[in-house]
Amino acid sequence: MPIAAEVPLLGSLPSPVALAYILAAVLFIAAAAGLSRHETAVAGNVAGAAGMCVAVAAAIGLALSSNPSRGVLTTALLIALALGIGAVIGMVLAGRVAMTGMPQLIAVLNGLVGLAAVVVGYNSYLSPDALAASLGTFHLGEVFLGVFVGSVTFTGSIVAALKLAGRIPGRPITLPGRNLLNLAALLVSAALMAAFMVLPDGSPAAWTCLVVMTVIALALGVHLVVAIGGGDMPVVVSIMNSYSGWASTFTGFLVNNDLLIITGTLVGSSGAYLSYLMCQAMNRSFMSVLLGGFGTEGSAPMPAGAEEGTIDATDVTTVAHTLQGARRVVITPGYGMAVAQAQYPVATLTDMLRNEGVEVTFGIHPVAGRLPGHMNVLLAEAKVPYDIVLEMDEINDDFPEVDVVLVIGANDTVNPAAQEPGSPIAGMPVLRVWESRQVVVFKRSMATGYAGVQNPLFFKDNTSMLFGDAKDTVEGIIRALE
Ligand code: TAP
Repeated sequence: MPIAAEVPLLGSLPSPVALAYILAAVLFIAAAAGLSRHETAVAGNVAGAAGMCVAVAAAIGLALSSNPSRGVLTTALLIALALGIGAVIGMVLAGRVAMTGMPQLIAVLNGLVGLAAVVVGYNSYLSPDALAASLGTFHLGEVFLGVFVGSVTFTGSIVAALKLAGRIPGRPITLPGRNLLNLAALLVSAALMAAFMVLPDGSPAAWTCLVVMTVIALALGVHLVVAIGGGDMPVVVSIMNSYSGWASTFTGFLVNNDLLIITGTLVGSSGAYLSYLMCQAMNRSFMSVLLGGFGTEGSAPMPAGAEEGTIDATDVTTVAHTLQGARRVVITPGYGMAVAQAQYPVATLTDMLRNEGVEVTFGIHPVAGRLPGHMNVLLAEAKVPYDIVLEMDEINDDFPEVDVVLVIGANDTVNPAAQEPGSPIAGMPVLRVWESRQVVVFKRSMATGYAGVQNPLFFKDNTSMLFGDAKDTVEGIIRALE
């Protein structure tokens, strides 16, 4: 039996369900539009949640009314059981995950969408009704593509999650002839698809095509993502998000559900566009990400802790004095601010300085932290006004006019090595904090950042290092100012 109720196309839907689907689709589009700006992000979230409630209610209503042979009560119990299990797992996972672990969770969720597409694809092919009616060539193509995209998404996302969690090395792991292997996997899968579509439905030969392609696609997902460097994982997660959207679209075709097709296409295209924008922000080529092997150019990263000169270690009292004499201060936060949960004292320090007439702004790198918008969410949570939180491009030319830059738990995103040809992060746009009069770097040690690249900023004449947990050091500065 199909695991999802067969849903007729919009034209023949009972009108309440058709209306609910249209309403949900409009709410999802409103959610995507709302989430694009700080000021409207909360409204966007509410619209998305409302759309999902409408969609789930409509899907339940449809399932209850379209399976009279099974009995409404049995269908209701099955749905309640599935919802209950899913809700408990979701609530436990969401409650446990720290903000710093959110990218891994997103990667795992993308992987589950891919797995769902594989299961639905197989189910659709296995369904005795479908086989009895002999599947059309178009439907066979949908089954094949759905399973292919779902398999790549599943294993690719799981590898991305393991890399992000540090369970497997972040450095690129590449096989010889990597691109040829990927191309061969695609060509063999295309040939298997052609055979699958002409062979008799359910025949051993057709099954062999489907199963062999599934194994190839699962291996392709692993191969594509292990070849990508840890520093480029943000783009990978975004691409996997896009793939999961396309996998949902194929699932929508398989179960004839228009809303799933619309939602999958929204996720697929917005994820692809976000990936493209992130590639632009990191000066990378979109094609090289799609083909894997991203982040492998350049020399080997310098080992953590390797020294490049002398550093100037400072203390909270000195930094407080420096801030008292400043007219313009820029704060560039990074992953370390999230780890230390320092956003609240950072917001308090910002208020104190602004009350003293100091102009304070934030400079946010597009991939600061571990997921898109990470820093913006933390600062919004601590009630930092939106209008002083600027994007990298809005602030980068202003640094020569800035008295003090506070680099709070950021490293790769302020690394001048990105401007050196041959560096592993060469070409990545960075916040040019070193152009300001004075830089204070808040971190615990001389360890490298996520990309494993040493940071010459720490050894510059106008840089001071304030060692310690960022929350403790920012609170120390607040006390010194008080
Ligand atoms: P990173 O380069 O990872 O540097 C973070 C710094 O924070 C580290 O140098 C660390 O030094 C310091 N730190 C950690 N815990 C701290 C604490 N409790 N108190 C004070 N400092 C602390 O961060 P970034 O500049 O934000 O760059 C982001 C990196 O992550 C980029 O390479 C990016 O490509 C990658 N990435 C981004 C994303 C997205 S979408 N944003 C997703 C995946 C990966 P110590 O250990 O010495 O304290």
